[in-house]
Amino acid sequence: MSNSYAEAYDKSINDPDGFWGPVAEDCFWYKKWDKVLDDSNKPFYRWFTGGRTNTCYNAVDLHVENGRGDQTAIIYDSPVTDTIKKFTYNDLKEQVSLFAGALAAKGVKKGDRVIIYMPMIPEATFAMLACARLGAVHSVVFGGFAANELATRINDAKPKVIVSASCGIEVTRVIEYKPLLDEAIDLSEAKPDACIILQRPQAQAEMQDGRDFDWADVMYQASPHDCVPVEATDPLYILYTSGTTGQPKGVVRDNGGHMVALKWTMSAIYGVDTGDVYWAASDIGWVVGHSYIVYGPLLKGCTTIVFEGKPVGTPDASVFWRIISEHKVKTLFTAPTAFRAIKREDPTAQMMKDFDLSGFNYLFLAGERTDPDTLSWAENSLKVPVIDHWWQTETGWAIAANCMGIEQFPVKPGSPTKAAPGWNMDVLDGDGKPVPKGEIGAIVVKLPLPPGTLPTLWQNDQRYKEAYLSAFPGYYETSDAGYIDEEGYVYVMARTDDIINVAGHRLSTGAMEEAIAGHPDVAECAVMGVEDQLKGQIPLGMMVLNAGVDRDEDEVVKEVIALVREKIGPVAAFKTATVVKRLPKTRSGKILRGTMRSIADKKEYKVPATIDDYTILDEIEDSLGKIGYGKNA
Ligand code: COA
Ligand code: AMP
Repeated sequence: MSNSYAEAYDKSINDPDGFWGPVAEDCFWYKKWDKVLDDSNKPFYRWFTGGRTNTCYNAVDLHVENGRGDQTAIIYDSPVTDTIKKFTYNDLKEQVSLFAGALAAKGVKKGDRVIIYMPMIPEATFAMLACARLGAVHSVVFGGFAANELATRINDAKPKVIVSASCGIEVTRVIEYKPLLDEAIDLSEAKPDACIILQRPQAQAEMQDGRDFDWADVMYQASPHDCVPVEATDPLYILYTSGTTGQPKGVVRDNGGHMVALKWTMSAIYGVDTGDVYWAASDIGWVVGHSYIVYGPLLKGCTTIVFEGKPVGTPDASVFWRIISEHKVKTLFTAPTAFRAIKREDPTAQMMKDFDLSGFNYLFLAGERTDPDTLSWAENSLKVPVIDHWWQTETGWAIAANCMGIEQFPVKPGSPTKAAPGWNMDVLDGDGKPVPKGEIGAIVVKLPLPPGTLPTLWQNDQRYKEAYLSAFPGYYETSDAGYIDEEGYVYVMARTDDIINVAGHRLSTGAMEEAIAGHPDVAECAVMGVEDQLKGQIPLGMMVLNAGVDRDEDEVVKEVIALVREKIGPVAAFKTATVVKRLPKTRSGKILRGTMRSIADKKEYKVPATIDDYTILDEIEDSLGKIGYGKNA
């Protein structure tokens, strides 16, 4: 690997075949690719066309064949159930090939979809890898989503089988998954042929005869299934992510490019090697979980940690340090919000002192911008490089990072450092012209995107083009605004759409507005992301009630909060809302969410020229003040 960032970066942009071709030699292929980059159907670029491989083979079997069968592949550390369990690569191969056999026995074949709705337990990773083994396409749905969100995904993916568990555990609360799954299947038009349910001791799921099968039974009856060769361009998974409407986007990931890119990032970006212990404290329901709990570390032959707990409260703010020292973690990847939660409980990092962290090398943060406070607290207490890196569900891996395995740059607080190799980044103004260094604009990536990114949206090429490629022809629009400084450091400042990041979870305010609009007393509403010390942002809702509604406003607020929880799920963390007389708008009727957000966050704002009646902003200030926001709080 090149030890100069400039050399690696230039090669990746000017000679992508020459850069990624040799990288791909590090993986196993049943048949080598015909083309590294296939640009024959622009703007749909494909990687490694003609190549045949299997992601599960590369992540599991290959290590067994290379003599690493006895190495620990997965450590399941679950403070909420007081369990630590280790699986070697031999164990992993056995579990995954058996579950692949179980899925095959239920009729799952190459190309079929399987939805996985599970908590952070090792069986969730077995299910993902078993799908990859068969060439089936998994779609993991985060456990904090409500039945309605699950139903939307079932309707879009049309899974043959759904794999779930009887419950998840949120600190001390047992969350029954099965009633949510049953409701989601009732709500959806597409019905699965079968559901496979893992019964956990904390809750017993009621099974529907003929449709639901016990994980333990199907495993007992299954015969191991071998890896099915797939095209490099065949889909490995669909991961739904928030768009600007209630209809989530089905981000597709292919097999070949994903495998090549992720394996490479493990050493190039994260500075880890085969055999090292790597921990992404996230959830398999998010892209970080897909890329860096499951695929990246296993492709590299690392030991990965499946953590069922929270940074605080399970049992306390020392849990991260306990895990790092007990399992000899070299690299930890989590969201800044997790560190803010720890810092709040243990501001002087006293709890860290009880643990031997001498083997710990790097902390990586993503999901939201790392605020300088959190950065310096983590640097000062851990005394290792703390690396902010920027990426999205769509990109699958970091767009900008300080690549520990290539060349380490000084950290500039507030910046995820420089464009990673493969990412031809630019900042454009509204007319699509590059802005001077240091000026804010839309951050875009010149096509083609590197391997491992999204080739399209699930069965929706049109939406893919409209959502990402149409605003700036020839570029992928990240929907993040920011700037690049003279030294090439990137600064990501804000989303340009209505996506917000709540505790590192990506949510659509548009989807919340759609849910609120379903309340019979609400005439119109606006949801915006306001600053929050712990979660970075939280959603705040403002509602105008229908004329003639003469109810207690607090009651309506309570109902609206319950409605968002019911339609989107607890993960939305929608707990703050207020009734207002009217909402400020442009002359064309667009609600001025940005202005209201500035008022709530006590930031300077310009009164938009389109507002003739200033009293409307005073009313908003009063209403926000009553719920603790803005200067009247
Ligand atoms: N299943 C069911 N419910 C879930 C859930 C799951 N998998 N995950 C979260 N929830 C629920 C929570 O219990 C909470 O419910 P409540 O409103 O009844 O309390 C709600 O969804 C909001 O959860 P969250 O935003 O996670 O808040 P929290 O207060 O439980 O925890 C943090 C706060 C900061 C500790 C936590 O969000 C965290 O660890 N974040 C890191 C996130 C991360 O790693 N992101 C990806 C990495 S890039
Ligand atoms: P998700 O798809 O959930 O990974 O969310 C992607 C969005 O999170 C990005 O478009 C950014 O707005 C934000 N984001 C993620 N990582 C960072 C980061 N390191 N700095 C700033 N914003 C980030």
